[in-house]
Formats: sequence, C-alpha cells, structure tokens
Amino acid sequence: MYRTTPPVIHLKDYRPPEFLIDRAALHFDLGLEETAVHAELDLRRNPAAKRGDGDLYLDGEHLELLEVALDDRTLPPAEYEIREDALVVHRVPDRFRLRTRVLIRPADNTALEGLYVSGDMLCTQCEAEGFRRITYFIDRPDVMTRFSVALAADAERFPVLLANGNPVGEETLEDGRKVARWDDPFPKPSYLFAVVAGDLAAVSDRFTTLSGREVPLNIYVEPENTDKCDHAMRSLKAAMRWDEERYGREYDLDVFNIVAVSHFNMGAMENKGLNVFNAKYILARPDTATDMDFAGIEGVVAHEYFHNWTGNRITCRDWFQLSLKEGFTVYRDQEFSADQSSRGVKRIEDVRMLRARQFPEDAGPMAHPVRPDSYIEINNFYTATVYEKGAEVVRMQANLLGPERFRKGTDLYFERFDGQAVTTEDFVRCMEEAGDIDLSQFRRWYAQAGTPVLECADSFDAHTGAYTLEIRQHTPTTPGQSTKLPLQIPFAVGLLDAAGADLPVQLDGETEAPAPGTRMLALREAVERFTFVGLDAEPVPSLLRGFSAPVIVRYPYTDAQLTFLMAHDSDGFNRWDAAQSLSVRLLLELVAESDKPVPEAYIEAVGRALKQDDADADQALLAEVLTLPSESYLGDQMTVVDVDGIHRAREQLAAAIGEQLRDALLGVLERNQEPVEYDLSPAAMGRRALRNAALGYLMRAPTPDIVERCRAQFEAGHNMTDVIAALRCLVDADPEHVGDAGEQALTAFYQRWAEDPLVLDKWFGLQAQSSRPDTLERVEGLLEHPKFTLTNPNRVRALIGAFAVGNPLRFHAVDGAGYRFLADRILELDPLNPQIASRLLYPMTRWRRYDEIRQALIRAQLERILEVEGLSNDVYEVVSKSLG
Ligand code: ARG
Ligand code: ZN
Repeated sequence: MYRTTPPVIHLKDYRPPEFLIDRAALHFDLGLEETAVHAELDLRRNPAAKRGDGDLYLDGEHLELLEVALDDRTLPPAEYEIREDALVVHRVPDRFRLRTRVLIRPADNTALEGLYVSGDMLCTQCEAEGFRRITYFIDRPDVMTRFSVALAADAERFPVLLANGNPVGEETLEDGRKVARWDDPFPKPSYLFAVVAGDLAAVSDRFTTLSGREVPLNIYVEPENTDKCDHAMRSLKAAMRWDEERYGREYDLDVFNIVAVSHFNMGAMENKGLNVFNAKYILARPDTATDMDFAGIEGVVAHEYFHNWTGNRITCRDWFQLSLKEGFTVYRDQEFSADQSSRGVKRIEDVRMLRARQFPEDAGPMAHPVRPDSYIEINNFYTATVYEKGAEVVRMQANLLGPERFRKGTDLYFERFDGQAVTTEDFVRCMEEAGDIDLSQFRRWYAQAGTPVLECADSFDAHTGAYTLEIRQHTPTTPGQSTKLPLQIPFAVGLLDAAGADLPVQLDGETEAPAPGTRMLALREAVERFTFVGLDAEPVPSLLRGFSAPVIVRYPYTDAQLTFLMAHDSDGFNRWDAAQSLSVRLLLELVAESDKPVPEAYIEAVGRALKQDDADADQALLAEVLTLPSESYLGDQMTVVDVDGIHRAREQLAAAIGEQLRDALLGVLERNQEPVEYDLSPAAMGRRALRNAALGYLMRAPTPDIVERCRAQFEAGHNMTDVIAALRCLVDADPEHVGDAGEQALTAFYQRWAEDPLVLDKWFGLQAQSSRPDTLERVEGLLEHPKFTLTNPNRVRALIGAFAVGNPLRFHAVDGAGYRFLADRILELDPLNPQIASRLLYPMTRWRRYDEIRQALIRAQLERILEVEGLSNDVYEVVSKSLG
C-alpha cells in the first residue's frame, strides 16, 4: 500500500534556531472541555544562526488559532499560514512581539501530551514535544525563555493553580473565577513548562538549604491520598541534602512543588519547580506499597529533584543529547539510593535491570548509541540505552577520575554551562580538563551501539609464578553500524588464592607488589595481554568486579570455580554474579536435557548460602543470591529461545530447591519473622526479601502446612510486600496443592482494594503473569472488567504490558494467540495514545530470537500493524525498524 514515510531527523543536520524567544507571558483560561491560551512572545533573530527565508516558523499541533498579532497589529490571513504542525508568519522583523490566541481541548487529549485531564484535574506533560500542543512556540530545547504565567479558572473546581517558578499573586474575581500568577526567573526550554489545576490537598514541609534559605515543600495529591506522602517527602528532603553534600548543588526557587497524577505516560517529569509524577512514584503506605515500590519512589523523587541542576539549569542542546541529562541524572539517583541503604544490593539491582532491558535493546533492531544519530519519533528514544547505559558511561568516567577529580569535573561543568543548552561532548570535555586525562577513545561509548563482549583466556607458568590474562574485545554489529572500534574499558580484576583470599595483583615489570585486592586495568586494544607476577600457584580470577563496565565477560569457569567465587570472592557483586552464572549454566543444561537430575553440588551450594543467614548477614544480598535468573534473561542466553523448555527447567530447579532444602528454608522463615513493628530499614526489607524468597521455593513443592503458612501470611495483611508475595504463590500454585485458595485470595484482595487504583494494578498484573494455561483467556476477560480502561497507562501496563513482557510462557504460546492479542491492543491504543502503543511493541521487536514458527507468527502481526492506515510515527518507527 502507499504511505508517505515520516521524515528521519539527523544529528548531523543540527542548526541553531533562527529566532530566540527571550520572554513569554502566557495567560490560560482553564476549562476541562476548552482552554484558551493567550501567548505574548518577545522574539529576536539569533545572531548565531544563518538567515533563512525571512519567515518565522512556530511549532503547533492540535491548536485552534483565534488571533495572531505582531507588535500590536492583528495580522490579516495573508500574512501568515496555518499548517498541520506549524504557524508560519511571513516576513517578520529582527525583533518583535508576537501575540497569539488559541483554543485547546484538554478533555479530548488521550495522548497525555500537552494539557490534559486526569481525574478531575488538569495537568501538562511537555517533554519532549508537548508544548506545541499548548501554544505556538519554537519548541526545541536550545530556545531558553523566561516564562511568566497567569492561570484563570473556576475557583471551586480548581482551587489549586500551579505553574513553574515562584508564586507572585492570587486574586478571586467577581465572577467566581480565580487568577494565580507565577513567575519563573530562570530561562528554560519549553519542555520544562508545566501547569496544574485541581481540587488538590497539599502535604507540606520545609527544607533549609546550605546557605540558610527556607524552602517550603509541597506534595499535591487528591485529598484521599494525603496519608500516602510521607515516604516521598522524606525522600525529597534526603535528596536535597545529598545534592548539596555530594555535588554542592543548592535549590534555587522560593518553593518546590510536586503533584501526583493518575494518568501519566512515564514515571515522572522534572518541570522547573513543579515536578509532575505518576502517582505510582509518590503514593505509598506500608499496607498499599511493597518494598520495591518504596525504593522506586525514593529513586524517582531524587531523580526528578536532581534534574534541577542536571537538566534544568543546564539542559540539552537537542534531543540527541538526551543522555546528557538522563544518563548523568540516573547515575546520580543510583548513587543516592546506594547511600540510603545497601550499596552492594543496589548495584546488583541496577545491573540486573541493565542486563534485562538494555542488553537486549542493544542486541535488537532498535539498537542505538547513547547519543543516537537519528530518529523518527523522539519519544521512542527514552530508552534503557539513553538512561541506564548512559548512567554506566558517566559511572565509568567517575571511576576513571576518582571521587575528587570527578567532583572537580562536575563543578567545572556546572560553572561553565549554567543557563545553557549543551552537548554530551561539553560534559566529557569538563571531565577531561578537570581530570587531566585523555578521553578521546572513551568518547566512542557515546557514539557506538551494541554491548561489547570480552573473551578472556588465561595461562599460568608454575616455574616463574607468572599468570597471563588475555582479553579480546569485540562489539557485535548493530543496525546501521557495521564497523565497530575498540573501546576504552575500565576492567576491575582480582586474583584469589586457594583459600579464597585476595592476592596482590602485581603487573610484570613492577618492582613492588601492591596490597592484595582489586586492580583496575585499562583496556584499549582489540586484544590485550596482562601478565601478573609473584604467584605461588594458579589463581582464580575475579573479573569485572563491581561490574566496572557495561560489557559481557566470557571466561571458561568450571562449576567448581563458580561455586568457589560464590563463597569467597571479596567483591559482593561478583559473589552474586558467580551464583547467577552457575544457575544460568545449570538451567540451560536442564533446558537441553529434560530428564537431567539437579546435581547435588548445586543444591549444596544453595544450602551453604542459606546457612549464611545469621544475625549479622546481609539478608537482602542473600535474597539476591537466591533469586533465579528470570525466564527472559535465560532466553537471552540461548541461540534460539526455548520458551517452554526454560519454564519447565526453571520450575524443576525451584521445586528441587524447595524439596531438598526444605528444612533450611523453613529455618529462614523462622529466623526472619516480621517483628511486630514494621519498618523500612534496609535490614527489615532484607528480612522480608529473604523470607519471601524462601516461601517462594517452599510453595513450589508445598505440603499442607506450608500452604497454610502462605495463606496466613496473606490474610494477616501485615504489609503489602508480604501480602503480594503470598498472593503470588497462591495464584501460581497448582490447584492440586492449594485447592481454590488462589481464587479465594484474589477475590478477597479485590474486595479489599477495588477503590485503590495503584493496588488494583497489582491485582491485574498478578493475573496477567500467572503461568496457568488459561491466562490469556483470563486477561481477555479482564479487558471487559469495569475497572479496566485503555485510557490509563498504568492500567494498560498492569494488564497488557505485564502479560506481554512478564509472562513469556503464555505470551509466546505457539498457537500465536498471544501475539494476535497484543497486536489487537496496540492497534486499539495507537489512535488514543501512541507513546503507550509503541512501548507495548517491545516484546515483538525481538522476533528473530525465536524458532521459525514463532518468527512467522510475530512477523505476520507486525506486518498486519504496518498495513494499517494512519499509524502514529511512534508505532511506525518501531514496527518498520523491527521488520527491516
Ligand atoms: N524527563 C523525564 C525523566 O526522565 C522523562 C520524561 C519523558 N517523557 C516522554 N514523553 N518521553 O525524568
Ligand atoms: Zn530523567
């Protein structure tokens, strides 16, 4: 069929904007059905840009233009042109004031970009290109403007009226309307613009900054949620303090506001002085939120707050530089969270997530560099690569420089670029200057896509005591990038003696042995050889300690060596990683050989790990060690994903652990009972994680007493972490063992939580992830549930996303029903909310990883989607690249 393909935007085509907007005064007449926006813009020609055709181009979409005036003269239609995505004003002077009046329709805005309705409130989301749905503007991040805003609305329906910056007055008019004025003294790009209007309640606190300024803090929520803001507020204050201490960054406005909304495409948004959050990342009470939810809130609240400096004061020149703010800010929030609880466990969680989401992205059809070269739809590039790999790239620079020089580098960056829109190159140059190091090769990390693979081999010379490690790096080709150059890779190595102690890692040629411990090697060439001396016997290498670079390491460990590292490595991350490698290896063997028994040595190793559960153990770390790799991660390790084999093998192994280590697991339950007082300390969270991991194994081979325990934990309802863990076990268990306890528990849970949307999302998600054979039917039934709606992204993710991503067994059913189901939903969603539709495509982009039958079935669905007329750019880009 005929289609005009959307344009591709290239980094190499970047040109500075022809006009700048120094000041914008906006007046909103707010209403749910209709909002009028009056904009007064002070424009001038950009001295740094080439002169164009003399016309002014303003971005604008879904706007109804009522009037346009230039320097107070209303323009006749001949002097401007309205296009689908722009307003072109002909022959403008070099400096002028432009006034426009437009109408927008928030209630019709299901895309949740621009001004939209969530519940009874009005709110905005402008990043990346939503501001053009609010008024005509030069909607790009290198146009930085001082905004002042007046919001007028019905005082009863919208008593709270918020915008960026500082409040500068409020009045109630005679007609019952209210006007609130806000002024933001800091020039900012339009993507950081926000307004909120609603009948909201505030939870308030104060923060005294480094220089002694008192800043009121408010979290605005729907009135019934004021009892769920404590954790977010505590996290905010901790983040504000941390940014002062670690980066010398102080808050800069008279007030800091947060709003929680129920309809939100992403996690949250760092609008200047007015962060808008998906309610999921604010609202939590011990009975409604799990420990993971609490950790998510802490991380996201900090992330958005940190953007005030890394994103807002210094922003991105263009969207190819997105990782400038996102990679750096993720690195900052990761470090903040690490400082709040267990650094080791945090690193494991971050790496697990990187491997689960970014590595597959880097190996698939949407692979792109941390700084992409091109895109069709920028919303498709808010990715694990830009965020999480971007954070790893900053982390590597921080490690290369060391804490003092890295701080000098960030100080220089903040000082040099404050108030500007800059590039990742500007960031690296600061690190280079302050660190006094050459990062020319390191820069390739920003430009080259794909996950580097390090093939390691070694040899030992017993006569000389020399141990040689050879490392070959190569990066697989990715779409559009067939040649890959060697990267500079910080590679942390330790050597263990037979007792498991660290040896000195002394390079050949060095006269003195360093203290025993980790040595950071710098890889630069495709092949590197390092010889270590002074060794009495062949050591066991501990490679890539602390995950010092986002790469895949291959080394032919024996099972015995992995078991040894799991028990002895001084690097906590590598102890965990050795356990993972051992489990992956065994599970892949069980996949290949379905009647292979689980080796005793493996069970013994797990048993030994369980014995470490004593008074001064790190239970959270132990829980991580006990967590088997996920089905999808196992699939990623296979040439062709064996969907059914992986599920069977993983269940077999879990059941073997549950049966053969029953007493040890029961011991874990006993030792880690919840104290009467629930708390969120890392130790308490660790206890819950470990106890629920043990319960999960026991419920794989359940005896009536275990089932009873599980049911009791569910019914006690002590906290959501325990309730959900027990509910998941009951729902997933074979009815042969638990009867209808699963169904009963689901019903009870629904009755208890039907009116709490975030908790209800868990109820939808759990059913979508069940391995029961009738899950798809059930999910289809739930689409008809009165509480299901396609217009709430959280609900869509909870049911459809959880099924497609969190349930590989049922989604990839070989009859293709799962694929058809997902394609149907994507086609329904695309006209409503293209960003969400596009995100749901992810599991289908991976079709090349499956057997021929499944490949053909997934392709057929992708082709079917591509045939549809009027597809969004979002969905078009992902589908066409996946098939291409
Ligand atoms: N800047 C936000 C954050 O990472 C994400 C906003 C993304 N929005 C989008 N429509 N793609 O904190
Ligand atoms: Zn961010």
